[in-house]
Amino acid sequence: MRTRLVVGNWKMNCTLRESTALVESLMHYVDTRADVDVAICPSFVSMAKVRDLLRNSHIKLGAQDAFWDNFGAFTGQVSAAMLYDVGVTYCIVGHSERRGRFGKLEVPRSTLGYFGDTNETVNLKLKSLLYYSINPILCVGETLSEREEGQTDAVIEAQIRGALAGFDAAELAFLSVAYEPVWAIGTGHACDPDEADRVCGMIRNLVAESTEDWLADDVRVLYGGSVKRENAGEFFRRPNIDGGLVGGASLDAKDFSLIVLGA
Ligand code: PGA
Repeated sequence: MRTRLVVGNWKMNCTLRESTALVESLMHYVDTRADVDVAICPSFVSMAKVRDLLRNSHIKLGAQDAFWDNFGAFTGQVSAAMLYDVGVTYCIVGHSERRGRFGKLEVPRSTLGYFGDTNETVNLKLKSLLYYSINPILCVGETLSEREEGQTDAVIEAQIRGALAGFDAAELAFLSVAYEPVWAIGTGHACDPDEADRVCGMIRNLVAESTEDWLADDVRVLYGGSVKRENAGEFFRRPNIDGGLVGGASLDAKDFSLIVLGA
């Protein structure tokens, strides 16, 4: 039986003061539900403060990305080594807002991100996170045009196979995968729960094919994309969905708490 996991991705939101206030109200509600794993991913600058506030909470500290090299001349990057030092438990990797070609937008800004992650860089980042025993949350998902062209399954297969290339199952024991259709992120148009469940089931099969069956049974597959307190239960009830990756609704303590309490 997989423990449910609900992750709040704060993205580029919350000053230090706002982060403090949000964490304090979250702990108040969320800590009553100890049977669900919960993590919040603040900005890098709020991380140490949030870690201190969470000291007596079961909410874990997460990060939104990590670079694959440990130290060096990589202006603006933060490494898994640094996240480990701060006390990070989970790290999102390959979020669609970070995939795309750095400095060369080949698609409209509204459909894909700016930061250059590819399946290969995601694979390197996963390696680095696992080396530092940080639990990765690997994001995969298709754009609207890919869905309209019937490419959803092929895109996700390439993302999973590319990200997991070269790993043994044992190395991936703490992996989670989040299915996040790009067109559902921040739009208010969540994926149909049956379709999300189908894709999450396919992801589990792909993990089994890329590694081993026992790992696929243990891996948590989350849904993300306009998860709200009103629709979260619909996703969490589905057999292949083990929790959620929540953006906008994680910035409101009450909304996020209700999502966790309903998990
Ligand atoms: P959203 O974002 O919940 O605001 O749609 C989800 C995500 O990008 O992880």
